[in-house]
Amino acid sequence: MKELIEKIKSFEIDVNFNTLGEFIKAIHIDSINYHAFINAPENIGDYGRNILTVDPFECILINWPAGVESAVHHHKGLFGYVWVLEGELDNVSYKFDNNKLLEYSIDRYERDGLTPEPDGIIHKLRNNSKTKRAITLHFYYPAIHSFEGMKIFNLENGQVGILSKQAKTANWSLNTGHFKEILENAFEFVSLKKT
Ligand SMILES: [Fe+2]
Repeated sequence: MKELIEKIKSFEIDVNFNTLGEFIKAIHIDSINYHAFINAPENIGDYGRNILTVDPFECILINWPAGVESAVHHHKGLFGYVWVLEGELDNVSYKFDNNKLLEYSIDRYERDGLTPEPDGIIHKLRNNSKTKRAITLHFYYPAIHSFEGMKIFNLENGQVGILSKQAKTANWSLNTGHFKEILENAFEFVSLKKT
């Protein structure tokens, strides 16, 4: 892992979606010794994070216990990739259309699978396993210094939460001070099953 962090720190070319992807694809997965870097989640139902570096782009190791998922969130001015090191991770994608949030694809990634997170997407990541954890390495540019302004979607009640700078993760289990605003009945959720 130390070698990877050194490689990131010496990355000198322009960081964009393509150069970041090429950088990751050139690393051999067997060279990543991640076990000593896994953090337990701070709260039940959450994932554990270990920020390895933020410069020139962010690299975070994430530990997803069985059944854990992120909130549905919107990338605005932020892109990256998720590389699966262990277990399986689902990327569930949505699009916003006419006050409807439409679920339109679910892609599953196994070890060595690389999930793109282009700027502008609305998605969630989940470990759908009932028994096994997933370990993933995330690369983001620019580094996430603040979640301020990020929108998250609650599929159960149609709320959209706009995070404040106090928010430490993009998650619904935050206290009210972690939201700038919560919009009620902001959308109707249409799952893949209904379409
Ligand atoms: Fe994301």
